[in-house]
Amino acid sequence: MNILDGKKCSQEILDKIKETVDNLKNSNKRVPGLAVIIVGNNPASKIYVNSKVKACEKVGFYSKAIFLDENISQAELLENIQALNNDKNIDGILVQLPLPKHLNEDEICNAIDTSKDVDGFKAENLGKVMLGKEDGMVPCTPQGIMYLLDSIKDINLYGMNGVVIGRSNIVGKPISSLLINRGVTTTVCNSRTKNIEDVLRNADIIIAALGKPKFLKENMVKEGAIIIDVGINRVDGKLCGDVDFENVSKLASFITPVPGGVGPMTIAMLLNNTLRAYDKRGE
Ligand code: GUN
Repeated sequence: MNILDGKKCSQEILDKIKETVDNLKNSNKRVPGLAVIIVGNNPASKIYVNSKVKACEKVGFYSKAIFLDENISQAELLENIQALNNDKNIDGILVQLPLPKHLNEDEICNAIDTSKDVDGFKAENLGKVMLGKEDGMVPCTPQGIMYLLDSIKDINLYGMNGVVIGRSNIVGKPISSLLINRGVTTTVCNSRTKNIEDVLRNADIIIAALGKPKFLKENMVKEGAIIIDVGINRVDGKLCGDVDFENVSKLASFITPVPGGVGPMTIAMLLNNTLRAYDKRGE
């Protein structure tokens, strides 16, 4: 069993981004800027937003964290986004999800300028991924997963069987498109998939993104499979993924740990997308 070390891999990416930003600073150029909006007091969201802002500081990006009241109206939130769309120092805008129930997430995400949509959640950006054009903004977690798969020496994804558990817009749907784009025979399961154990036992790659602690057990995995764990669950105060790591790791050829696997890659890809948005604007 080999660990796919997201912490190490993401650090290498962040080091490269920092080098680019240092060069910009040395030439007295503007640095890339990321704005993160958080609405309300969701504790998990606060932790995620803090780690995104911290990562910006580490590489030398300009960052702006905007904390908005739980009861903000749809119109006021849209005004905040419009101001950031027009802000020349901001290349990327991220609205941390989930939003409070009274807000329309779809409308909010789609109000972000397509070129600043560093989450890649807008219909235009997701649509491009689905059409096999990955030159727009590719969602961060799926992009990070592909990066980890590509870090496996001599891997050839073409023709492999991939099974994605979970069909969210943030992970399940875009990662299945990215796998399909690379010639992986891809199956997307959900919590009601019949005989899911049989489907999973046929997989060369499993992406577990359903949000159920230790769902994936050793009896569902074939020997030598590559296991990517997207879950971040808190059980008895401890973080654990959607994979029963202790037992599944005995069978897997490669596996991501939680924490230290997909999570840090998501943040690295967010900064990568912000740098790409900056480069594309060319100002
Ligand atoms: N909530 C959980 N994951 C994410 C993410 O990647 N981006 C945003 N904006 N919200 C999230």
